[in-house]
Amino acid sequence: MKTCVIGSINMDLVAVVDRFPQPGETIIGRDFATYPGGKGGNQAVALGRLGADVLMVGKVGNDSFGEQYLNNLRVNGVSNDGIKIHEGISTGIAVIEVDTAGENHIVVIPGANGKVDREFIEEKWNLIINRDIFLFQLEIPLDAVLYAVKNLKEAGKLIILDPAPARELPDEIYKCIDYITPNETEIAVLTGTEIDEDGDLEKAGRKLVEKGVKHVVIKAGKRGAYLATRDDFIHVPGFGVQSVDTTAAGDSFNAGLAFALARGDDILESIRFANAVGAISTTAKGAQSAMPSLMEVESFINQQTVNE
Ligand code: RIB
Repeated sequence: MKTCVIGSINMDLVAVVDRFPQPGETIIGRDFATYPGGKGGNQAVALGRLGADVLMVGKVGNDSFGEQYLNNLRVNGVSNDGIKIHEGISTGIAVIEVDTAGENHIVVIPGANGKVDREFIEEKWNLIINRDIFLFQLEIPLDAVLYAVKNLKEAGKLIILDPAPARELPDEIYKCIDYITPNETEIAVLTGTEIDEDGDLEKAGRKLVEKGVKHVVIKAGKRGAYLATRDDFIHVPGFGVQSVDTTAAGDSFNAGLAFALARGDDILESIRFANAVGAISTTAKGAQSAMPSLMEVESFINQQTVNE
């Protein structure tokens, strides 16, 4: 099956810090680097590394970051025929702080990502409609996401939505979604509920199922993920790794999920595979640096024990 990511492309400007600064405080950082990122581009590159047939649809600016990014997609096996260079605006940027525990703070400046609209989706429609499985996130304008999702669902395509960054969504989108993959913070925003105690995740997951989503896959970091459907609520344990940088762990998870579903794995096997891709991706600095090949994921799964 052919996959397609419609979403954001950013260059990540990453500062490594011992700890995050307090408001008004200046601290001295440890290290700085620039990496290709963006939730959309990360998911496409993770799919490309796994060996999927993947098309990226999105926009970059007419600048050196945009040029670098097009090359980055190419070397990672991602078709960039769906990319447009938008004149007069910069490529998207993410300013990221990563601490010594591998946790991060991220500020995104959308740039060209903010110019992805209905017209652009229509312009690329002939390429888009040839694909089978679609991955969306929320770093391009919601109107474009909604427009593409509705039309693709009408055409019978499989839709995966990563609702990140978190925001409330219109009810009409939910019935078009086959798989939604929030983390615990995101599902709290989507459902307007607090996630404090055992049972809250299940309640929140069921709320999204009632709104029309077929599968709610809640990403829970080291604990793995939870699947909520009309009939079940199932925990799929995660894998233990030494994390260096958790940036894009969620993106890698989504790519792993799409890859496994595309090759015909059942949903629980697909989530287990996604947990492995997400875990491996945290073992080096930068969003895309540690995204694994299929062979790496398979040997990792065979060697690892799971976290409960
Ligand atoms: O999910 C991680 C990504 O979020 C980073 O690569 C950054 O660009 C932001 O989009």
